[in-house]
This record gives sequence, structure tokens and C-alpha cells, in this order.
Amino acid sequence: MVEQSLWMQKVAADPGHSQWYIERFREMARAGKDLGGEARFIDAMASRGARILDAGCGPGRVAGLLAAAGHDVVGVDVDPELIEAAEHDHPGPRYLVADLAELDLPARGIAEPFDVIVSAGNVMTFVAPSTRVEILRRLRNHCAADGRTVIGFGADRDYEFDQFFQDAAAVGFATDLLLGTWDLRPFTGDSDFLVAVLRPAQPGS
Ligand SMILES: C[S@@+](CC[C@H](N)C(=O)[O-])C[C@H]1O[C@@H](n2cnc3c(N)ncnc32)[C@H](O)[C@@H]1O
Repeated sequence: MVEQSLWMQKVAADPGHSQWYIERFREMARAGKDLGGEARFIDAMASRGARILDAGCGPGRVAGLLAAAGHDVVGVDVDPELIEAAEHDHPGPRYLVADLAELDLPARGIAEPFDVIVSAGNVMTFVAPSTRVEILRRLRNHCAADGRTVIGFGADRDYEFDQFFQDAAAVGFATDLLLGTWDLRPFTGDSDFLVAVLRPAQPGS
């Protein structure tokens, strides 16, 4: 057993938390808000019909748009209520309930690695801190040798960007690109958000 994610600790303390989150996004969608920035970013870097993993997919807004764009998408999240909402609101991807710290998709019948892995919406700051490195290792292991893994999260959420860079390097990720927003603003020392495009480092590189 791994330490329970911070997200599920919140849900345990407030059983209405998942439903509140689901409704918040349904309301934004009804209001016509643009909820597709991350999916457009990923779609732009992926070949057509790519195999994409949405790690911490929540109610499915990123995974659903990527599936609608023709990609072969798997969405994984630890919160069963969010996965139920994803299946209802954004059908198309294959959705699974799992803690990313125990991610083993071959054991769930999904053997092929992914061309792109995306983890948007501060997922890395909602996992249990003790599991961060293991989660990065598992994402790396699920990423194709020539694939990319894209992780976005905000500053001041108790996961320092420098620590994240160290953790990513420790599990064998190399950095392709750092941005400060999903709409391609540069990452600087003052950025309050990070979008890191990582690739599996090749032995000897
Ligand atoms: C703020 S939500 C973002 C959801 C989605 N990525 C989005 O951008 O709409 C954070 C998500 O991380 C998920 N999460 C947190 N810890 C996790 C873990 N250890 N394994 C899988 N999912 C996790 C939560 O269940 C929640 O869906």
C-alpha cells in the first residue's frame, strides 16, 4: 500500500469534495469557458492517432478532447467519483481507477507504452509527497522510448520546481522544454506555473 493521495485525504475529510469539483467544471463548460488549452497543447505535439495517457485525468476534460481529436486515450485517476463523471461527461477514452504510485497498465491489459503522457491540473501537487518520485518513475516506464511526458503544476503548492527537476532527472527523464503556461509563454525564474516537457533519457545521454 502507498500513502493515500492528498486528493483522497481531502475527499475523506469532505465527502462532497469530488462532486463539488465535478460540478465546478460542468458549470464552467455550460458557461462556455475555454477548458481545452492543455488538450490543444498535447494535440499539437502528438502525431495523428497517438497513444496518450492522461495521468490524473479527473472528470476527463483533457482526455475527452484528445479522444475526440482521434487519439487513442487512456485516463487514469485515483478518485472513482471523478472517473464515473469522466465516463459520463467525456466518453471515448478508456478510463481506469488507479493510484499513479501503483500504475501498472500492462497488468490491466494495456501493454503498449504511450507516445505522450499528460498530467495537467496540478496533479503532482495532489499526490502524496512520499509517492512523487515513484509516480514519476512509473510515468517514465509507461512512456515510449521516443515519447514525451508533459507535466504542469503551479508554484507555492509545496512541490518546489527545483525539487521536481531533481526528481524527474533521478528517474531517468531528460528535459526537452520548459514553459510557464499551457499557451507557450516562456518559463522564467519568476514563473508561477511550470509546464515541463520531458523525454526518457537514453542510456549514456
Ligand atoms: C485538480 S484535479 C485535476 C484533474 C484533471 N487533470 C484536470 O486537469 O481537469 C487533480 C487530480 O489528481 C488526481 N490524483 C491525485 N493524486 C492521485 C494519485 N496518486 N493517483 C491518481 N490520481 C491522482 C485527483 O483524483 C484529481 O482528479
